[in-house]
Amino acid sequence: MTIIAPSILSADFARLGRDIELVEQAGAQWLHLDIMDGHFVPNLTIGPAVIESIRPGTKLFLDTHLMIKNPADYLEAFARAGADLICVHLETLDNPRAVLRQIKSLRKKAGLALNPDKKFAAVEPYLNEIDLVLFMSVWPGFAGQKFRPDILPEVKKCREHLAKTGLPVDIEIDGGINRETAPQALSAGANILVAGSAIYRSADPAAEVQYYLNLAA
Ligand code: DX5
Ligand code: ZN
Repeated sequence: MTIIAPSILSADFARLGRDIELVEQAGAQWLHLDIMDGHFVPNLTIGPAVIESIRPGTKLFLDTHLMIKNPADYLEAFARAGADLICVHLETLDNPRAVLRQIKSLRKKAGLALNPDKKFAAVEPYLNEIDLVLFMSVWPGFAGQKFRPDILPEVKKCREHLAKTGLPVDIEIDGGINRETAPQALSAGANILVAGSAIYRSADPAAEVQYYLNLAA
């Protein structure tokens, strides 16, 4: 099944509850939360307190994308705040296996994210530890950047490998998803699409969510 994960990075933070309800009612299944620390990426966003406020108001699956240094120090806080999946960047980990196991021991789904310069081979050794691979299709840090089609061959390799091995891992693509690039991401093998600006900067965010859901069906 294909999943649409609107990213609240492009939402109106003064009206966050309304913006979340909007995409939930339109049929989105996940909500993508971009956590930035100003160190791993040159931008700052939200932390566990905001997730804790979001949690009781929505049934959406909270897809938490940590773009922070030393993610292990914060896993418990994000788990307690109500994240359903915690995704960490390979680039931030000295011992990926230990951190992924820590996420699982908190009874959360575990994701591993790759910057756009990484190959599929970088994530392959960890596929049996994770529920999701996140291929970044822009450099992490900001919404509204241009999609990088050069990541698509790596996504395709990952999909082929998963088909061969039968490992139950989702493939998510994040960055620059719009009406033109979403079909490319899906045909390369992604089954979860993150979209920030394409949804929240459009005149009709609900219609945009429905467009991606229909595309996927
Ligand atoms: C970028 C974030 C993305 C971002 C996507 O670092 O990880 O989730 O919100 O925004 P768009 O869809 O506008 O590229
Ligand atoms: Zn993200």
